[in-house]
Amino acid sequence: METVAWAHGFEIGVKSIDEQHKRLVEMLNSLGQAIGESHGKEAVMGIVERMKDYAVYHFSTEEEAMEAKDYPKRSQHKQEHDTFIEQVLDAADALESGGKITPQEVWSFLHDWLVKHILESDKALGQHLSAQGMQ
Ligand SMILES: [Fe+2]
Ligand SMILES: [Fe+2]
Repeated sequence: METVAWAHGFEIGVKSIDEQHKRLVEMLNSLGQAIGESHGKEAVMGIVERMKDYAVYHFSTEEEAMEAKDYPKRSQHKQEHDTFIEQVLDAADALESGGKITPQEVWSFLHDWLVKHILESDKALGQHLSAQGMQ
């Protein structure tokens, strides 16, 4: 599994959110490491579960900020979060039951979604929040 290096390009300019994104990237890297070292299904599932829980917490942080600062695209952004959680739960189920999805595929899905969402949707949110004085 490749390792994702945190870079300034990921920053959206709001400290609390950037710290949480950093933590998500760390968790993604831990997952990649566990897969690369062929840790068992239980270990991999455990990390996916913790990542999902942390994502739920992180999304609530962003959604509270969206409400507080009246972000115009908040329903669309929240929908992306909700769909992601559903997809992670589906992936975890498929992993649990075995055969339908590989840990590598789960990693790639998490990686691709996170990077795209941070660089596009969260960056747009960050611009709004920064303009509203959030740091
Ligand atoms: Fe985010
Ligand atoms: Fe987001």
